[in-house]
Amino acid sequence: MNSSSDTQRVDSFSKKTHFAKGQVIFRQNSAADCAYIIETGEVEILIEAHGVETPLSYLSEGEIFGEMAIVDGKKRSATARALTDCTLTVVHQSQVQERVERADSIVRLLLMILIKRLRAHSQTNALPSITLEAPESLAWVQKDPKNVMEKIKFESELLQAVEKNNFLLLYQPIIDLKTEKMVGAEALIRWQHPQRGLVSPEVFMGIAEETSMIVPIGRWVINQACKDLKSLQQLLTASVQPIYVSINISGNQLQDPNIFQNLETAAATNQLRKSDLRIEITENILLSGAMAVNCLRKLKQSGFSVILDDFGTGYSSLSYLSELEFDFLKIDRSFTQKMSHDKKSKILCKSILNIAQELEIPVIAEGIEQQEQKQALTEFNCQYGQGFLFAKPLPLEQLIEFYKKTNKE
Ligand code: C2E
Ligand code: CMP
Ligand code: CA
Ligand code: CA
Repeated sequence: MNSSSDTQRVDSFSKKTHFAKGQVIFRQNSAADCAYIIETGEVEILIEAHGVETPLSYLSEGEIFGEMAIVDGKKRSATARALTDCTLTVVHQSQVQERVERADSIVRLLLMILIKRLRAHSQTNALPSITLEAPESLAWVQKDPKNVMEKIKFESELLQAVEKNNFLLLYQPIIDLKTEKMVGAEALIRWQHPQRGLVSPEVFMGIAEETSMIVPIGRWVINQACKDLKSLQQLLTASVQPIYVSINISGNQLQDPNIFQNLETAAATNQLRKSDLRIEITENILLSGAMAVNCLRKLKQSGFSVILDDFGTGYSSLSYLSELEFDFLKIDRSFTQKMSHDKKSKILCKSILNIAQELEIPVIAEGIEQQEQKQALTEFNCQYGQGFLFAKPLPLEQLIEFYKKTNKE
């Protein structure tokens, strides 16, 4: 008694269903809202056309069927019939739908192509003229196949660029707002594309991050920036304060087990002081997990400077400011640019500067385009600035010219 009511409960909880030998589970061309996993028994998949049945497959324990229609939102491509008494677990459409929606767009497109081919294959088996295509299909299945194809092509081009190192580093001067002299520069990557010209990181770094391409690209940036910093320091020996270069490093890059060694080697090969190489990371790095945070701690202990970039735009807790020691803090340009016309942004800038001052962390304001912005930031005791008001990101030779012009006595 007890055991039978238990079985009943388990059945309704795990959505199991039973079919007797010979029973049709679903018919070809019917609407679908679930797939099935065979727990016990055997199932035949067949095509019916003009009264003729053509078997496609025989399935047994552990296999899934009825998945095609719930993935592509069309009608059943074939009939399923119980060959023996069967127990099946029901997989609801929403379980699959959510995963397909979340999947990478390229994976989604490949899935749809495979299903389309399978459907065409079933159709051939069901000669002579059966239509399996239902008129409607779910919008979520594939929103924009053309765009996805473009994305794959773009990705292939980027892969080639990685092999050939078709990148360039531009440098945007960082200015001491009091003395108006250049103290360092931020390295900003560009892709030198044969047809598109210089491509912005906003366009390709997303794809590089989605794939593992960020790792070789990041390695190239580290090596090139270290070489460039060496030549800068050799050329500009007259300055009392040695010039520095900052590079951007993402959370995914910090998860690469070789990154620490890459940075150490690049600094040693070029005989650089590690504190002159500044690593810009964003708050979101803290969401990348323990490995990234540990790597950051190791870099810090080893003597590299660390800048907290885009401050205030990502991760919402301030507690990390006490957990991790940052050498500099960077105010994102979204705050700097709004501060001249938006009172709240101005208050936010002022508050960020107050917090930083209390913590004795110097601040760099990014995206300064207007004199008033610079003035307001100076009034709030912001030490450093960067933006089109001073210079756009420049090729290395122009950066040297800029330095010579700005820093002459
Ligand atoms: P970011 O680190 O916030 O870099 C600052 C961005 O603001 C740069 O865009 C710079 O050109 C732009 N900018 C600076 N001053 C001004 C200004 O006054 N006005 C305006 N409108 N823009 C200004 P860019 O070079 O397109 O870089 C975009 C983002 O790409 C960077 O944002 C950074 O997150 C990423 N990135 C660039 N180079 C690298 C790299 O080598 N490695 C990694 N991981 N990310 C990089
Ligand atoms: P669906 O189209 O939802 O309903 C019929 C199911 O039969 C289908 O999902 C697949 O699970 C299965 N099916 C369709 N074509 C084949 C085939 N060629 N070989 C094996 N199974 C198939
Ligand atoms: Ca940056
Ligand atoms: Ca920024």
